[in-house]
Amino acid sequence: MLGRLAATRLLEIRQAFRGAAQASRSFSTALNYHIDSPDNNPDMPWEFNSKNQEKVMTESYGNLQSISLDLAQQQHGGWLPVSAMNAVAKVIGVAPIRVYEVATFYSMFNRTPVGKYHLLVCGTTPCMIRGSRDIEDALLKHLGVKRNEVTKDGLFSVGEMECMGSCVNAPMITVADYSNGSEGYSYNYYEDVTPKRVVEIVELLRKGENCQ
Ligand code: FES
Repeated sequence: MLGRLAATRLLEIRQAFRGAAQASRSFSTALNYHIDSPDNNPDMPWEFNSKNQEKVMTESYGNLQSISLDLAQQQHGGWLPVSAMNAVAKVIGVAPIRVYEVATFYSMFNRTPVGKYHLLVCGTTPCMIRGSRDIEDALLKHLGVKRNEVTKDGLFSVGEMECMGSCVNAPMITVADYSNGSEGYSYNYYEDVTPKRVVEIVELLRKGENCQ
């Protein structure tokens, strides 16, 4: 009797832990931070390619952390695994925490994988007043993902960005394409968008058409 009660209790505890682990995984995706996984852990080898290494070495100290992180993100297909942040810290000669501080503060640094097209909705006040929440809702609903999740075909993800300097034409989105590495990544602005227009943009991108 006592043995059966203990086994039942153990099973309940295991299920509770499993539920908490699953919740933690989806929570981390939604909030864009990493928990150790095969493609994002400190033991994963990562280093700058020779061109980016040279750019980092010739950069002035004032922008060193941001520029190095930006190059690492471009090189790594649009996001920063923890091993890339550690590599940045090593190359520029600072403690890893200094790099984590920058990468976790600025919304342009992605710490989970992004789609080929990373759709960034401006969430700052002028765009918000002009309907950016509806824009984001339309994208998430159309693509069937949560914020910072990647569609199953790997083509799209939706993130949020702070003011991108196009407030006069709010609301706006940016489409980042990191699939061509540091030499060919693009960052295109779409202004005065509506929920209908952003869905059209997604479908044009899916067909590989230029929707500028
Ligand atoms: S508030 Fe969105 S571009 Fe400035």
